[in-house]
Amino acid sequence: MKYPSITELVLRDGQQSLIATRMRLSDMTPILSKLDNIGFSSLEVWGGATYDCCLRFLNEDPWKRLSVIKSNVKKTKLQMLLRGKNLVGYKKYDDSVIDLFIKESSKNGIDIFRIFDALNDINNILYSIECVNKYGSNSQGTISYTTSPIHNDKYWLKLAKDIEDAGAKSLGIKDMAGLLKPKTAYSLVKKLKKNLNIPIHLHTHATTGLADATNFKAFEAGVDNIDTSISSFSNLYAHTATESLISMIYDEDENPFNMNELAEISDYFQNIRNKYSKYEGSMKGVDIKMLINQVPGGMLSILEKQLFDINKLDKLDDLIKEIPEIRKDVGYIPLVTPTSQIIGAQALLNVLDNSRYKNLNKEFIDLVNGKYGKIPGEVNKSLLKIIDSKNYEETSTSLTVNDARLEFKKFCKDNSLKDLYNNNTDLLNYILFPKESKDFYNKSTSMSMNDLIELQEGFGFYLSD
Ligand code: CO
Repeated sequence: MKYPSITELVLRDGQQSLIATRMRLSDMTPILSKLDNIGFSSLEVWGGATYDCCLRFLNEDPWKRLSVIKSNVKKTKLQMLLRGKNLVGYKKYDDSVIDLFIKESSKNGIDIFRIFDALNDINNILYSIECVNKYGSNSQGTISYTTSPIHNDKYWLKLAKDIEDAGAKSLGIKDMAGLLKPKTAYSLVKKLKKNLNIPIHLHTHATTGLADATNFKAFEAGVDNIDTSISSFSNLYAHTATESLISMIYDEDENPFNMNELAEISDYFQNIRNKYSKYEGSMKGVDIKMLINQVPGGMLSILEKQLFDINKLDKLDDLIKEIPEIRKDVGYIPLVTPTSQIIGAQALLNVLDNSRYKNLNKEFIDLVNGKYGKIPGEVNKSLLKIIDSKNYEETSTSLTVNDARLEFKKFCKDNSLKDLYNNNTDLLNYILFPKESKDFYNKSTSMSMNDLIELQEGFGFYLSD
């Protein structure tokens, strides 16, 4: 029997999905060596929303978090989630920034980079794969799974083959909304295993209640690696519980995992989760509407909160119906950060205006104009007409590393921050999140308790990847 290896997600996606990415480094360090001893193929610890949240809410340098984790995890590979050309942010960065970011991440301890693009545009991940290979880490090219009339087996196989040909060392199937059904997973994995030489990894969310069965069928089809999260940080918006998956696939006498140690780890994280209970989402069991309208749970909760804040909760049903309509108009793009935020914001405008596309978000115009990458299907003709008539202005491209260094140097001088600009990781913080970094560097020397509490209580920040 061939068993898949297991990636443990609690430190990144588990906590991102369940407590809005609020887990601190100090919550992680006491348990790192125990996690290291379990025998996971990797620990997902960084990237996605964690970078942003470190600076925005936790007053933490994300690079320090990475180096502390690295020094405590000696045996297990460290993994991060990278949003292709958007890195860990929400817009496209210059190639010089991508190169420096991957170089520093690799140097500071990331072994496996899971690289995806929200639109599944291979051109958006090619350069990252190249850089990861150049700096000697492991590049995992990823398909962002979705369902639509154009997303069929043929589409996925071609994309997967292109990813393998691009030099990726493994292929990730990333099902951020829990849409992958068990039988589909079985046939998809079988076909991928037949047509590809690189290992296949599966990442699915429990939101729709399908994840356990989907993971099990993928195991039966011979998938090489499955992502899970420790039981006290599992299910709901997150993933199959680590201990459950192990119990499903192994006969007792063949189980190489120490279930008692896993139980201790789970108990530890239960206490952590209790501390952050106010960041939990509202879903209690499973969200079956996801299978109908494909709105990721994280996206739904943030839209619900936005409607609540403006006293328009009665519009929620209209909003949920509008999202798939927009998705159809823009060629069935998958909903994952940043497209889920862009589509969500436009849906909100359409519903509040009581008129479709009367007002358009800048990012939405960019998306339709291909600024985020090639659209998988056809864009609705009348939508294209509306956008053409809006006098579209090209957004300026992001700064190069050299230009950004000059800007950062001035900021450091003005704020007596010595020579921070010579430090690549400080520079990257500044390039990726200028406003949050300015606050972070100005505050880190003189942060009062009040500032800290205010930061922690920032607006609930749910992202779906
Ligand atoms: Co995920």
